[in-house]
Amino acid sequence: MSELHVLDHPLIHHKLSVLRDKSTGVKEFREIVGEISTLMFYEATRNLPTEEIEIETPVAKAKARTLNNQKVTIVPILRAGLGMVDPMIKLLPNARVGHIGLFRDPDTHEPIKYYCKMPDDIAESTAIIVDPMLATGGSASAAIEFVKEYGCKHIILVDIIAAPEGVEVVRHDHPDVDIYVAAVDEGLNDHAYIVPGLGDAGDRIFGTK
Ligand code: PRP
Ligand code: URA
Repeated sequence: MSELHVLDHPLIHHKLSVLRDKSTGVKEFREIVGEISTLMFYEATRNLPTEEIEIETPVAKAKARTLNNQKVTIVPILRAGLGMVDPMIKLLPNARVGHIGLFRDPDTHEPIKYYCKMPDDIAESTAIIVDPMLATGGSASAAIEFVKEYGCKHIILVDIIAAPEGVEVVRHDHPDVDIYVAAVDEGLNDHAYIVPGLGDAGDRIFGTK
């Protein structure tokens, strides 16, 4: 069964309080999404295997552990997932990026795919799928399915805010995928928005409304 990791930390709580506030403007919203993403990436990569190498410090030979040969692909779900990519790449500059374009049909709330581009070596990579919101779970479940179709076997999902319904769907559809979230909220409203949530993540990141 997949594991659900809820990042319970004062820094995360504090930053989430700013994100959720409807008076937070685009610039600050985008910055805080980035800061939370950095903290989440730190946790989500905790179990990546490292390799022992020998280096020379100015003082002596030493054994050290490296991620140099680890293939990691960050997969943002467009649009809102894009806001999480740069801070993660800063921590792991050799990571690849694969994009999946999905939007929710406003009436059915079903995900509609409009773009997909993965690196050639995605099958041997650890894929870290990122999106600020896990609402019905339709987008995340579809994104995981697409990445699996490319032969990728090790997949991690990172969402900032989740609804219990979305967590349930992803865990049911993909019991092999661990999920990292900063918060699990009360549930969904009639428009399948997370309550209390933070509104439309894409619009708030890109200032489109
Ligand atoms: C939002 C969000 C997720 C999806 C979550 O994207 O960023 O991708 O909804 O909802 P679900 O769990 O019910 O599928 P949206 O469809 O609004 O597209 P956007 O990022 O382009 O705004
Ligand atoms: N997408 C969002 O951006 N916010 C929600 O609450 C649900 C889906």
